[in-house]
Amino acid sequence: MRTIFWDYDVNLLKMIDQRRLPGALELATCRTHVEVAQAIREMTVRGAPAIGAAAAFGMALAGFESASSSTRGLLADLEAAAHTLKASRPTAVNLAWAVDRVMRKAHSLEGNVDDLRAAILAEAQRIADEDVETNKRMAAYGAALLDDGDTVIHHCNTGALAVVDWGTALGVIRSAHEQGKRIHVLVDETRPRLQGARLTAWELQQYGISYEIITDNMAGYFLSRGEVQKVLFGADRIAANGDVANKIGTYMLALAAHDNGVPVYSVAPTSTIDLSTPDGQHIPIEERDPDEVLGLQFHGEPVAPQGAKARNPAFDVTPARLITAIVTENGIAYPPFLDTLRGVVHPKKVTY
Ligand code: MRU
Repeated sequence: MRTIFWDYDVNLLKMIDQRRLPGALELATCRTHVEVAQAIREMTVRGAPAIGAAAAFGMALAGFESASSSTRGLLADLEAAAHTLKASRPTAVNLAWAVDRVMRKAHSLEGNVDDLRAAILAEAQRIADEDVETNKRMAAYGAALLDDGDTVIHHCNTGALAVVDWGTALGVIRSAHEQGKRIHVLVDETRPRLQGARLTAWELQQYGISYEIITDNMAGYFLSRGEVQKVLFGADRIAANGDVANKIGTYMLALAAHDNGVPVYSVAPTSTIDLSTPDGQHIPIEERDPDEVLGLQFHGEPVAPQGAKARNPAFDVTPARLITAIVTENGIAYPPFLDTLRGVVHPKKVTY
């Protein structure tokens, strides 16, 4: 099922409200591009490709919102909306990628304002459709890396909810499972927003894939005991040198895997690879409200003393040296990533 889609009956954007899962499966509706930006910021929709698709549809909403009767005026309104949407979250590059793609399309078009509005929606729809296709291709490449009987540690939220449908790292696990491979997943709960415990576990349960939730700090224990054969996660932005920005905690997981000789795979579409960013140090890292850390309760009681302070970076950067391979829809990139990532982003320009 598509987790985010345009409802053509009412010309509005609908998405599964990820804040409500696993307790309730509900749809949220966005009527304006500002509501889309808010849904992205507040994590109604989350996961790099999903927020890219959301932003693209947000641009379509902006087109319909604009009262301008001239193409120039409409383009100016779209530019303003693009700015608002891109500012909603800084780290996942798919957001800017999708908005820029829609803007490029808008600038390349001829015709009246209604033609332009229709073409922008069509471009957003294409981005969503391509996302599903991309995930299936990544999953096919990645599933070949998993063996029957593997136990995999998975970090964060990379299933259908984090994309339009199927998933990145979880899509790989899903395809391997469909091929009949017995895969067991140790699901990092993924503090502080608990995307693993809340969303990944919920999805695995839907697909009938064997899993157990672990707290993030248990990963090293299981890796050191030889109980884990592979580590899988997605990415929010991959720099040209192969440094991977992903949900906070990924770096510590990759370090522990590396120390124990366990392969580490990042699974991401080429829209997540940002060749204009040379390395991880140049990736902007979102710092979120400390309340996400301090608001946790245990047995109904706050875990931190009143007045406590906290830090809350939402992502970290795993250096390329800890990454075994990056799985994309155009194939698997191995080190040296500086060469091979260019190859998967521009598959026709480089041959191996
Ligand atoms: O802050 P979130 O929930 O949007 O972060 C999501 C992740 O970090 C995912 O691991 C990432 O987008 C992986 S690819 C779907």
